[in-house]
Amino acid sequence: MHLLSINDLSAKEINSIFEISDRISLGRGKGLMLGRKALLCLLFEKASTRTRVSFEAAMCGIGGDSIYIDASTTHISRGEAISDTARVLGMYVNAVAARMYLHSDIKELAKYSKVPVINALTDLEHPCQALSDLYTIREKKGGIKGLRIAFAGDIATNTANSLMLGATKLGADVVLVGPKSWKPNPDYLKKARSQGSVEVYSDMREGLCGADIIYADTFVSMGKESEAAERRRLFKGYQVNRKAVGYAKKTVSVMHCLPAHRGEEITSDVLDGRQSIAWEQAANKLLVEKAILLYVMGKA
Ligand code: CP
Ligand code: NVA
Repeated sequence: MHLLSINDLSAKEINSIFEISDRISLGRGKGLMLGRKALLCLLFEKASTRTRVSFEAAMCGIGGDSIYIDASTTHISRGEAISDTARVLGMYVNAVAARMYLHSDIKELAKYSKVPVINALTDLEHPCQALSDLYTIREKKGGIKGLRIAFAGDIATNTANSLMLGATKLGADVVLVGPKSWKPNPDYLKKARSQGSVEVYSDMREGLCGADIIYADTFVSMGKESEAAERRRLFKGYQVNRKAVGYAKKTVSVMHCLPAHRGEEITSDVLDGRQSIAWEQAANKLLVEKAILLYVMGKA
C-alpha cells in the first residue's frame, strides 16, 4: 500500500498503527521486525532533519536499511520523468519515502511504483507527522475523541491539512485560527468537515478559547520563501505566545512539528515551557515511523 494522505488510512488502520507503536514503546515489539532485509529509499527534494533521521533510524531499528538521496543529484533535476524514476527505484528497493514539492509528483511516483511510497511531506500533506502528532496527543491526553485541537497561523499548510483530516477522523474537533484573508485549503476543509467539526476563526482569543491543544507551524513553509515578508506580516498576530496560551484551557498542551522559528510563530518561553509537548512529539516520530513502515510494508 501507499501512504500519500492520512485519508489513505481508515480510523481502524490508524489505531492499528498506534497499537504497533504501543507494543514497540512498551518493549513488547520483539517480534515486530521486517521479515527480510528490506531497503528504504529516502528521496528528498527539500531539507529535513527529523523526518530523514527518524526514518533512517526506524529502518535500522526494525532490521532494515535505508539510502538517502537528495533528489537534486538525481536525473529528476535534469528532467527524467517521475514515472520512469518510480519504475527504476522499485527494481532496487522495497519502499520509497519521498519528500517532494508537489503533491501531484508524489501521486505520479506512487502510480508507477511497484513498491510502497510513503509521503514524507509535500506542499499539501505531511501524513507521517500527523500520525505521530495524534499518537502524542493520545498518549498525553489519554485519548483523542472529543478534544478541541486548535491550529494557529498558516492554516492552509501541509501540517494543518493532514492534522485536520486525521483529527476529525478520530473524533476530535478542529479549530483553524488564521487571518481573515487567508483561507484554509477548500478541498481539505470539505473532506475534514465531512468527517467531523472544523471551525475557522480569525480572532486568537475566540479561536483558542477552550482548546486542549494549540498547534503551531512555521509561517514560511519550504518552497514559500519568496512570500516570506508578506507571510510574516500577515501571520504576525497569530504567534503562539504566553498571552495566546492563556486563552486556552488551563490543561492545554502546545505542539509544534519543528523546525521552530523562535520569536516568530512561537516564543521560546512557550516552546520550552511546561505546557510544550513539542519534544515528545519529535521523539515519537521515530516510534510511529517504525509502526508505519511495518504496516505499509505489510509485516505487522
Ligand atoms: N517535522 C519535520 O518534518 O521536520 P523535518 O523537516 O526536520 O523533517
Ligand atoms: N509546513 C512546514 C512543515 C515543516 C516540517 C513546511 O512545509 O516547511
